[in-house]
Amino acid sequence: MLKSVSKPEIKTLPPGPKSKSIIEKDQELIMQSFARWYPFVAKRGYGVWLEDPDGNKYLDFNSGIGVNNTGHAHPKVIEAIKRQAELLLHYSLTDFLYETPVQLAEKLVKITPGTFPKKVFYTNSGAESIEAAIKVARGHFKGSRPYIIAFSGSFHGRTMGALSLTASKPVQRKGFSPLVPNVVHVPYPYCYRCPFRQKYPDCNMWCVDFIEEWVLKKYVPPEEVAAIAFEPIAGEGGYIVPPPDFFKRLKKLADKYGILLIDDEVQAGIGRTGKWFAIEHWGVEPDLIAIAKGIASGLPLGALVGKREIMDLPPGTHASTFGGNPVSCAAAIATLEVIEQERLLENAQKVGEHAMKRLNEMKEEIPSIGDVRGKGLMIGVELVKPDGSPNPELLKNTLDIAFKSGLLVIGSGLSTIRIAPPLVITREEMDVGLEILKASLKKALEQT
Ligand SMILES: Cc1ncc(COP(=O)(O)O)c(C=O)c1O
Repeated sequence: MLKSVSKPEIKTLPPGPKSKSIIEKDQELIMQSFARWYPFVAKRGYGVWLEDPDGNKYLDFNSGIGVNNTGHAHPKVIEAIKRQAELLLHYSLTDFLYETPVQLAEKLVKITPGTFPKKVFYTNSGAESIEAAIKVARGHFKGSRPYIIAFSGSFHGRTMGALSLTASKPVQRKGFSPLVPNVVHVPYPYCYRCPFRQKYPDCNMWCVDFIEEWVLKKYVPPEEVAAIAFEPIAGEGGYIVPPPDFFKRLKKLADKYGILLIDDEVQAGIGRTGKWFAIEHWGVEPDLIAIAKGIASGLPLGALVGKREIMDLPPGTHASTFGGNPVSCAAAIATLEVIEQERLLENAQKVGEHAMKRLNEMKEEIPSIGDVRGKGLMIGVELVKPDGSPNPELLKNTLDIAFKSGLLVIGSGLSTIRIAPPLVITREEMDVGLEILKASLKKALEQT
């Protein structure tokens, strides 16, 4: 007998009256510095499903932006949170000690790439993990290497240090200069729209040679560069997957000059791409790894994991009152256990491959799909105009129609649909979402 698959249910066209009253208050009371795609109000979540206050049920392709990797309200995560909350809510790891951060660190040093000894520093968000990475990298060299190289097209967060590395949309920086100095940007390896107008593999990875030839040999002394910071897959920039040999070549360049590699796994890490960390797809072991989002299934927690000899900031130089909060750490331990026990890395890989196949079939049928790319359950579908240029209007309309049809999915970059459902999604649920997405895109094409 065929197992019946749950479907979205839209009873009241969203936003319904209860959602609308929250939206009105939100606009009045909360600073509107976010760019929301559509007015979805979340009330309850379970597995890959979400409900709004008007009783509509949606399929989730967002995971709260790469966070709810174990699905919404996973019972084992909830249980761990309850148990820890009854024991101890907070006591500041900065000044005292408790057990959960140590237990979590034992796991993190095992699952992060590299068998060398490592240490962990806890934060509360992705941006803070990047701030920590900048300080650890510069601090390790005691100020003798003030430069950081980052990629234009990348996103690393919005606090002033992280923002200084971020370069995916001008609006993110507009009006906030001066930022942290000595950050140099080089083009991200975006082969579909190569910034150097070259074709892979004929380009022979000019994007890496460019760093040496036009940055390190022209104006940035390599012995003054502390680190190269990168996203293994550019998240906010458009779900861009670098070519197969890119990171090996980058590592070779970094090693030649004693430069550290900072791997920003905030969005791509914790199983999202079918491996614990996306950089594993390229077989490179970074010196520092920034983590947040999916690590605690929705409780605020971030971490910087790095080589022990590099994680050497002396006492008094860096700390965080809430970093390593016991409840967040308990949620993170349960999250990692659920990912292992439920074989979610394998599921992300299997369901991701299935989705990529179906999306590539869609691409054959719909010429407005210019590119389908991704790894595991981090998949981008770039929408284009007939002349091949990005089509942001089509993206906006498609996402809006999908929302009104019960599929929550957002965009990234200029015109890319970003597919990042909870890692517990089944193949059947993925098919339900992809059907809605296809119908939404077709409808949007009629209107755009
Ligand atoms: C790759 C990457 N780094 C850093 C951040 C910043 O994380 P947070 O919003 O938790 O500060 C994000 C957020 O989207 C991200 O995708």
